[in-house]
Amino acid sequence: MREEIVKILKSEGPAPVSGETIARKLGVSRTTVWKNIRALETDGYTIKGNPRLGYRLLQIPDRLYPAELSAKLNTCIIAPHSSYIHHYHCIDSTNNLLKNMAEKGAPEGTVIVTEKQEKGRGRLGRNWSSPGGKGIYLSILLRPPIPPQNASPLTLLAAVAACTGIRTVLPHLCPGIKWPNDLLLEGRKVCGILCEIKAEMDLVHYLIAGMGINVNTSLDDFPLALQATATSLCLNNNGREISRINLAATILQHFDEFYSEYLVAGAAPVLARWRENNVTLGRRVKIHSSCSSFAGTALELDSNGALVVKGDTGELLHFSAGEVIFENQI
Ligand code: BTN
Repeated sequence: MREEIVKILKSEGPAPVSGETIARKLGVSRTTVWKNIRALETDGYTIKGNPRLGYRLLQIPDRLYPAELSAKLNTCIIAPHSSYIHHYHCIDSTNNLLKNMAEKGAPEGTVIVTEKQEKGRGRLGRNWSSPGGKGIYLSILLRPPIPPQNASPLTLLAAVAACTGIRTVLPHLCPGIKWPNDLLLEGRKVCGILCEIKAEMDLVHYLIAGMGINVNTSLDDFPLALQATATSLCLNNNGREISRINLAATILQHFDEFYSEYLVAGAAPVLARWRENNVTLGRRVKIHSSCSSFAGTALELDSNGALVVKGDTGELLHFSAGEVIFENQI
């Protein structure tokens, strides 16, 4: 009902719409319309009511409401309808909740977004700082018909979608991907991706791609320990705030495009896009994997998205997991 009222108010642009017209269009009473207008105001919409002329929509809040995201999307697999998007004001972690939904049979393309996370999770057991209303915290459910050993390019795909989305909305910014899927701006982290998978030996049951983007985050919103290494889009945009709705929708749109392409053409196009957007290849790196660390030059991505590192005595190692540290940061 609220979604329908917003659609009607938007379709009239700046002109007011009477409560009676809205009630007639929706087949409900004027009191029902009035109650829903109040609820929309509580949700952050600015609506001006005039007893003679009716209601005018003055401002839409920058919250990641399904109706607002969906109005900007034209997707086939990822959130093809607003009912695929689930919005929360505050939850522990979008990945955790989506995992529960996936276990109960949620369809591919389901998306969870939240304004704030109490226990946002990062890679390698770290936390992800998720202050309210500042960032984009979302998770996307995929059910690709592939064996788990072919899933790595999907984690790269998530980074490519985020990177392309940011470059589309903010063409003057140039984020680069640090392998596998961190986005850096001026050497500082602006976006992280946590992909989690449930699979048997030869089939992925589901994969959850969780994305955290520091959008309008100021330096003091970050925990002290991150202030030297983290950044936000707004901090790189002369302090000007960025529409989170617009950015989240643009990323989901690119994600849909790249994932559809992946299902038809395989990993090669994803890897090519990753290479175009990376800041890793050609650099001296130290790579920490589960029980060891190795120094060398990041040479290439192999056909499965693993990082090929050339050691100082010329040996080539393929890493399919791990954390890269650039030598000039060590
Ligand atoms: C990283 O360590 O770089 C990955 C960070 C991933 C954070 C996102 S925020 C949305 C989703 N839900 C989580 O709990 N984590 C991911």
